[in-house]
Amino acid sequence: MPREGGPEVLETHRRELPSPEPGQVIVRVEAAGVAFSEVQMLKGRYFSQPKFPFVPGYDLVGEVEEIGEGVDQNMVGTRIAALTETGAWADRVVLDADDVTPVPAGLDPADAVAAVTNGVTAWQMLHRAAKVRPGQTVLVHGASGGVGTLLVQLARLAGAEVIGTASARKHDYVRALGATPVDYRNDVPSRVREISPDGVDAVFDHVGGPGLVDSYRMLRRGGTLVTYGSASTLDSSTGHWIKPYLPIFARVLRWNATPDGRKATFYYVKRWPRFFREDLATVLSLLEGGKIEAHATTRMPLEKAAEALGCLASGQASGKVVLVAETEARQSAR
Ligand SMILES: NC(=O)c1ccc[n+]([C@@H]2O[C@H](COP(=O)([O-])OP(=O)(O)OC[C@H]3O[C@@H](n4cnc5c(N)ncnc54)[C@H](OP(=O)(O)O)[C@@H]3O)[C@@H](O)[C@H]2O)c1
Repeated sequence: MPREGGPEVLETHRRELPSPEPGQVIVRVEAAGVAFSEVQMLKGRYFSQPKFPFVPGYDLVGEVEEIGEGVDQNMVGTRIAALTETGAWADRVVLDADDVTPVPAGLDPADAVAAVTNGVTAWQMLHRAAKVRPGQTVLVHGASGGVGTLLVQLARLAGAEVIGTASARKHDYVRALGATPVDYRNDVPSRVREISPDGVDAVFDHVGGPGLVDSYRMLRRGGTLVTYGSASTLDSSTGHWIKPYLPIFARVLRWNATPDGRKATFYYVKRWPRFFREDLATVLSLLEGGKIEAHATTRMPLEKAAEALGCLASGQASGKVVLVAETEARQSAR
């Protein structure tokens, strides 16, 4: 990703693969996720993005090919998953062995990668931020999206009732996931009040903007607003990427400084907390056990990264877009 622009600015480069340093592994990437984050990065609008140029790619699943000194020999040949934030759109990547999580045998690498960032984000927001309990009611914005579909499934699994906003054409899909759909183009607070008159126990909001106030107001006492994005400001804001997030941080601080029985928190997925790998392993085992589903519905070879990103940015893709290694791409085309 050399500079700000449209998907057509993406370039392919070749470079020498370094030998692994002590504690590192070299991974042959089998599948790498394409996410809304990269759409935002390309516009220079992603939360904490690096300076251009950089290799994008938030998460990957692949096979360990080589190891550095001090790494368990048994890791060679195993399938692992990792959250990289950037760098996963490559044939090979060098990672710290401490940053990778085993992928259960039998999981398709492209389906598994659909649950890495999105699955951990959804899991941690539900269980570490909002601490959702059985019998509670939660509102998931964007319930048809990558994070949203996993939030709905994991909340249902935790025993919660779910209301999910989505565009009308995706309501059947959201209903099939187990949520009550609400059209985000209509008056969401009124509709939510009809369904849950006392308000909801948690709201998960990736939209930001003026609607964030509605999200907070829909909470009942004891409820938690988890804000985790600013999708509504993608096209309207200019300047530093932090700008659209400042009003969100200011609101969160103000709400928490004036206690009224509800709270708000900004969530951002990170790979360094000690519980990240634990949470990713939990999500992958739920996927393996068939308790949740995540599907790579659009698979493209790495060389078509620009096309894949364009497909996601234009809203043509429904479901998760994944870049796959050449062999994988040939198999899925058969
Ligand atoms: N903070 C973190 O750690 C973290 C981690 C992962 C992702 N994120 C953020 O989460 C967001 C979603 O990512 P994703 O990969 O799940 O994206 P995605 O798959 O493109 O899904 C976005 C969803 O938002 C819905 N949507 C669009 N406008 C909306 C509105 N006004 N109100 C409610 N929903 C609306 C879309 O619904 P329709 O398709 O029905 O129009 C779509 O289902 C992004 O902003 C991303 O940056 C944050």
